[in-house]
Amino acid sequence: MSEPKPTLNLNDMHDLAVARMFAGNQAFAERIAQEDPEFFARQARQQEPHTLWIGCSDSRVSSDVITNTDPGNLFVHRNVANLVVHTDFNVLSAIDYAVNHLHVQHIVVCGHYQCGGVLAAMQATEMGLIDNWLRNIKDVYRLHSAELEALPDQPARARRLVELNVFEQVYNVCKTSTVQKSWREHGRPFVHGWVYDLETGLIKDLEVNVSGRRDLEEIYRFDMDKALHHD
Ligand code: CO
Repeated sequence: MSEPKPTLNLNDMHDLAVARMFAGNQAFAERIAQEDPEFFARQARQQEPHTLWIGCSDSRVSSDVITNTDPGNLFVHRNVANLVVHTDFNVLSAIDYAVNHLHVQHIVVCGHYQCGGVLAAMQATEMGLIDNWLRNIKDVYRLHSAELEALPDQPARARRLVELNVFEQVYNVCKTSTVQKSWREHGRPFVHGWVYDLETGLIKDLEVNVSGRRDLEEIYRFDMDKALHHD
C-alpha cells in the first residue's frame, strides 16, 4: 500500500509560503541578472568568503540580510543558540573548511537578544531532545551564575546570558586546534563576538576580539611545536 502523496493547496497559508519562495527566487534571479549580468558566472566559478559566520537558526537573524552582504561573502553555520560544541562535527567541519580551505580572515559568533534557546535553557521545563543541546547554555549559566544572579530581574539575566553565551562560544572556537594552528602559521583568523538586537536591527560588538593564544587560559593552549608531527 502506497502512502498518500502530499499535494500543495494554495489556499493554505503555509503552502502559499512555498509558492512565494519560488516566485521570490525567480524575482531574485531576474533582478541580479539585470543588475550584474556576470554575477552568476562569477558565483559558479568559486566562493571567496572573508568570514565564517556562526549564528542562531532563528528565522529573524538572517546573516546576509542583517549585514547587507552579498552571496559569496559569508560562509555560514547556524544552529539553535549559536553554540560551538566540541563534539559537534558539523561546526568543527565548518570551522576546519572555512579556516584551512577558504582561508577566511574572520570568524564571527553572533547571538541575539530574545534568543528562544537561551530563554528555554533558563527554565526548568522539560522540552525533549533539545534539552541535551540547551544544557550547553545551562553550563554557561553555571560558570557565570554569580554575575547573573546579582542582576535585578529575569529579562536582565536573559540579556546578559545571551552575551555570556557568545563569549563562551568565541572561546570555544579559539580552543580548537584548527584555529590555534592557523594563528601560528598564518596569523588569522580574528574571532569576534557580536549580539544582534531584534528591536533595533543593530549589531553590538562585545569586543571579545581574539587573535592569539595569549588570550586563552593556559589549559587550552596547544604547544604547537610539539604537536606539529601529528598533522
Ligand atoms: Co536564537
